[in-house]
Amino acid sequence: MKTTGGTDDQKRRAGERAAELVTDGTTVGLGTGSTAAFAVRAIARAVDDGLDVRGVPTSFATRELAREEGVPLVALDEVETLDLAIDGADQVDDDLNAIKGGGAAHTREKVVDAAADRFVVVADPSKTATTLDRAVAVEVLPDARTTVAARLRELGGDPTLRRAERKDGPVVTDNGNLVFDCEFGPIDDPATLSSDLSAIPGCVEHGLFVGMVDEVYVGTDDGVEVRT
Ligand code: 5RP
Repeated sequence: MKTTGGTDDQKRRAGERAAELVTDGTTVGLGTGSTAAFAVRAIARAVDDGLDVRGVPTSFATRELAREEGVPLVALDEVETLDLAIDGADQVDDDLNAIKGGGAAHTREKVVDAAADRFVVVADPSKTATTLDRAVAVEVLPDARTTVAARLRELGGDPTLRRAERKDGPVVTDNGNLVFDCEFGPIDDPATLSSDLSAIPGCVEHGLFVGMVDEVYVGTDDGVEVRT
């Protein structure tokens, strides 16, 4: 899974602090990635101590982790709303808009995170930026890869099909689709780009999360900075 420059300690501080938001009876969205995994493990320890929690995993990988660690799970199609979602991000700007999808899980992450009353991003300082400028993950129906790539170029993007790191072939998402990483340079108007991407036939979901994040917990070398 793609990770960026933060340290494990920074990620752990962010994840563990966010896990403290989980109280008895909480239905919590369990994000995907190395930072969210620290939250999942902390929630599991709280469950061991008697906390009553229902976790909604955002990916196959997170479901496996939560199962191994002993977090009680409920399937996404069994919940209408969640109390809380804790998820990582690849980049977050000053307005709390985010780019996600480094783990190719952004489609399910967006459903879970949007359904939560409170959506908390856990991150390390390398993820923060004034303006979003990382590549945007775009999940596409396999048969639509050529037409979607053409539309992405019309929008000024430079799409690259994501390849599996240890296998000879493309990344295939939990939903059986492909992923483009699309460079747009600095994204001055994330809301408009988000709408434009959503309107492309064959684009299943993209990794721009605009106006969704309530708080960002940034783990630092000596604590956690909370951004709202
Ligand atoms: C998965 C994601 C991840 O949350 C994002 O890539 C951050 O991962 P990490 O905490 O490992 O840096 O969006 O689709």
